[in-house]
Amino acid sequence: MCGIVGYIGERQAQPILLNCLQKLEYRGYDSCGIAVSQSNIQVYKDIIRIKEMEKALPKIEGMAGVGHTRWATHGGPSKANAHPHCDCTGKIAVVHNGVITNYHKLRQQLVSEGHNFSSQTDSEVIPHLVEKYFDGDLEKAIYLALRDVEGSYAIIILAAGEHRLIAARKDSPLIIGIGDRENFIASDVPAVLDYTSRVIYLEDGDTAVIAKDNIKVKSNGTGVDRKEHKILWSVEDAQKAGYEHFMLKEIHEQPKVIRDTLSEYISAGAPAANLMTPGDTLEDWLILACGTSYHAALIGKYIIEELVRIPVRVELASEFNYWGQTSAKTRAIVITQSGETADAIRAIKRLKEKGCQLITITNVVDSTASRLTDQVVYTRAGLEISVPATKSFMAQLIALYWLVLPYARIDNRRKDSLITELRQLPGKVQQVLDNEAVIAEYGRELSKYENAFFIGRGINFPLSLEGALKLKEISYIHAEGYAAGELKHGPFALLSGDTPVIAIAAQDNTYEAMLTNIKEVKARQSPVMALIVEGDDVGRDLADWAIAVPEVHPIFSPLINVVALQLLAYYTAKHRGCPIDFPRNLAKSVTVE
Ligand code: AGP
Repeated sequence: MCGIVGYIGERQAQPILLNCLQKLEYRGYDSCGIAVSQSNIQVYKDIIRIKEMEKALPKIEGMAGVGHTRWATHGGPSKANAHPHCDCTGKIAVVHNGVITNYHKLRQQLVSEGHNFSSQTDSEVIPHLVEKYFDGDLEKAIYLALRDVEGSYAIIILAAGEHRLIAARKDSPLIIGIGDRENFIASDVPAVLDYTSRVIYLEDGDTAVIAKDNIKVKSNGTGVDRKEHKILWSVEDAQKAGYEHFMLKEIHEQPKVIRDTLSEYISAGAPAANLMTPGDTLEDWLILACGTSYHAALIGKYIIEELVRIPVRVELASEFNYWGQTSAKTRAIVITQSGETADAIRAIKRLKEKGCQLITITNVVDSTASRLTDQVVYTRAGLEISVPATKSFMAQLIALYWLVLPYARIDNRRKDSLITELRQLPGKVQQVLDNEAVIAEYGRELSKYENAFFIGRGINFPLSLEGALKLKEISYIHAEGYAAGELKHGPFALLSGDTPVIAIAAQDNTYEAMLTNIKEVKARQSPVMALIVEGDDVGRDLADWAIAVPEVHPIFSPLINVVALQLLAYYTAKHRGCPIDFPRNLAKSVTVE
């Protein structure tokens, strides 16, 4: 996620902009910049931390300005790609957060009209569009420019000589902080809390004209009054958007992550990567990863084998690096959220040495993994702060579905219906989130135990591993994920009233076997918490606790079940008083082998 800020008032803008940007650092960034306007506009931007920029910047006079922290999406981190972006005259500077899905077409049109671009970003089309339409009326020019734009945006526009800023939002948050003869604009509340607790939340379709002592908001061209709110949060609370932990905030961001990741792929209008080409002689499909990403890899195996009918092997990167066999006839996929995991990087280098056809799925543009790989599929989860991976896992699964669907050996009707259902998933995931209070109560129950099993079958077996990992890493309860059919081959010895079992009973070809497993477990006194599909009264009656999730096509059930398991782990850990976002002994990116 990028961060944007704006200031207009009676104080020098530069220090205020930099301080506001610092409060948005939690969103993650790889470059930053500011533009300040006096008679003309001065822009400073670089691949630099804000603190460093503070030291490097000369003193810039001006009482209006904009600032930006960039989390690279279109175009890697570079000085040219950093914001603010300007038009050809340098009299219009823009900062943007969002994705302009039709920027290719707009850029081509603008270039044909003589505009010169200096970056690879989608955002740079905005100042050029404003310049194109500017005939003396800045507001009208911005209105016409935004009419051409498709996708999401939160923007702030600074124009030389203008004693006002103009902001607009569509599907990307933007707030206005109200001061005394000064006003602030930002992507998020934390940026302005050092200066004001009076905030207006702009809504989709809003455009605001902000002077130092006046704010005018229009909704699709009609004047509106947006309610003023008083913010009582601390800066840190505000960075969590009011959630107690980043993990809970990131769990709740998942409907948006699915939409963002999917809209990126759909707007690209082409397969996410060339998984296979006609006539290629790939004999061996291999997916490599670590930790939660390994569980995504295991689910990827089920997706590919179900849809493409090709056998897939999945290896832990840390094991593959010592024992794994591969060749130039291997189609390899490496999944790594951070793009910096040492085991994954070493595996990528080994795969490249062997001449494998390699695709990397990662969440970080310009990460080591992405720079080592020719074919990269980016997920759009935004920065994930909490050590336990949640939204990045969801985004990895979306990437895998999207990577595989174009090559699925199914008829177009079935393919279209799967894509339709995939696009409806944010709503289904939201339904699980809306059941949070019930899951929180079950977390209280689970928090009383020291050991637990998670069991699943088929595509939900990897999910039992992920549920166990989440619980382990944040609640410190010893949890094991197990293939449900395997429990009787030994682990039954551990079952007792002290060992609850969380069973994933999806409505697929494993359902009856799962019911049998639940009965077997209960017969050995273990309490059972079952993830069931809404309306499954049999499963509900069998279990001691039942978490009902909406029904989806079985191949998508991990996307729904994982949210319940994330919430369960979160509330279990919360009831145990654990430091959820930064668990003991763990790091967000494991850069050592
Ligand atoms: C998951 O909750 C953990 N944070 C950890 O297992 C993580 O998934 C693993 O270290 C892999 O990280 P990566 O996806 O960045 O490579």
